[in-house]
Amino acid sequence: MSTEQTAYAIFDELPYFCQMVETASSLLHTLANRLAVRRQNGSLRALRVNEALVDFSSNDYLGLARSIPLQTAIRQAEEQYPDLRNGATGSRLLAGQTTLVDAVEVELAQFYRSEHTLIFNSGYDANIGLLACLPQQGDTLLTDELIHASMIDGARLSYARRDRFRHNDLGDLETKLQQATGQLFVAVESVYSMDGDFAPLADLCTLCDRYGAALIVDEAHASGVYGPNGEGRVVELGLQDRVLARVHTFGKGMGVHGAAIAGSTLLRDYLINFARSFIYTTALPPHSLLAIREAHRLIQRDTTTRTQLTTILGHFHAQVIRQLPDTRWTDSLSPIQCLLVSGNDEARRIATLGQQAGLDLRAILSPTVPAGQERIRICLHAFNSADEIDRLRTVLQMAFLA
Ligand SMILES: Cc1ncc(COP(=O)(O)O)c(C=O)c1O
Repeated sequence: MSTEQTAYAIFDELPYFCQMVETASSLLHTLANRLAVRRQNGSLRALRVNEALVDFSSNDYLGLARSIPLQTAIRQAEEQYPDLRNGATGSRLLAGQTTLVDAVEVELAQFYRSEHTLIFNSGYDANIGLLACLPQQGDTLLTDELIHASMIDGARLSYARRDRFRHNDLGDLETKLQQATGQLFVAVESVYSMDGDFAPLADLCTLCDRYGAALIVDEAHASGVYGPNGEGRVVELGLQDRVLARVHTFGKGMGVHGAAIAGSTLLRDYLINFARSFIYTTALPPHSLLAIREAHRLIQRDTTTRTQLTTILGHFHAQVIRQLPDTRWTDSLSPIQCLLVSGNDEARRIATLGQQAGLDLRAILSPTVPAGQERIRICLHAFNSADEIDRLRTVLQMAFLA
């Protein structure tokens, strides 16, 4: 094409370009406005690095993410596989299937006392895959009102009727089970991520049995932390044969990344065929599989971190909660402890005070939690020292004096 022809072609396209520019500028305007609303009401999210502060925020409850013994075990495991690839090279149904992933799933099944397991790339993937494909049109899925966003998103993708029941309220759940139709499913978390409290799992099993409902338990914040070896709350309570599916995630207590659904071999076969977040994605790299395997082996060898976590929790209750009688806390015995405050500004003020004192305190703002339930979410770890807990109490005392 000559230069002249090119110029004419551009003129021909001009109205189209103008339209595009107009659309883009109006879209950018809309996006900027939505962000401005968040900035105004104090709920704007931003990425922040807080590496130098004392960790009261991460989900690394046992300190495995920073564990040198785990790092060494993973390196040694890698050395035993000289042909290990850097990536999985495809989805599990194509090139991503290996003898290693098969063996890790069998080992996880033994650990979680299930017939089988299926590994997903993350807990988010596991939850959306599971909830989107399990309940069918005409079925009913009842979810606790505080379940994690990944379960909510999975439920939204399902064709089943959906309803929420009040948090941990078995009476409300029973009323909804009585009205529900089709195959019934109930989805809960064993340890709630924003409140830190437990689901009444034994009573939930009894209720689900009575109505023929299948129970799904997200063990994200229990994996590694509860049970004789960190198998989660379901195994701790001996309920593994009464729960349809358990979602174990490995990026929190296990200190690495990824997730697995524990259940029957039939459930696994079903997920391999119908869970889209399993089917249509590149599988985890071999390095991650070895990290998952070694983290599970380590927590069985070393029980000291769980004991340290229990000690630090006791110290926190004695030295913080009991020393601040006029404060409101969620009813939690887990490493997730939440100080309730009113309003995003108040939550931010206290978190900032903590950060200025060298402590990584994070505010959880509405709309992530309901307005009036804004909070400082404090995560306790096996590696937190008594001195760090005492510094935390001093900061909170100052915050409430101000
Ligand atoms: C209760 C719960 N379920 C699932 C997830 C998602 O897990 P992952 O971080 O592995 O995607 C999280 C964490 O964000 C969570 O808190």
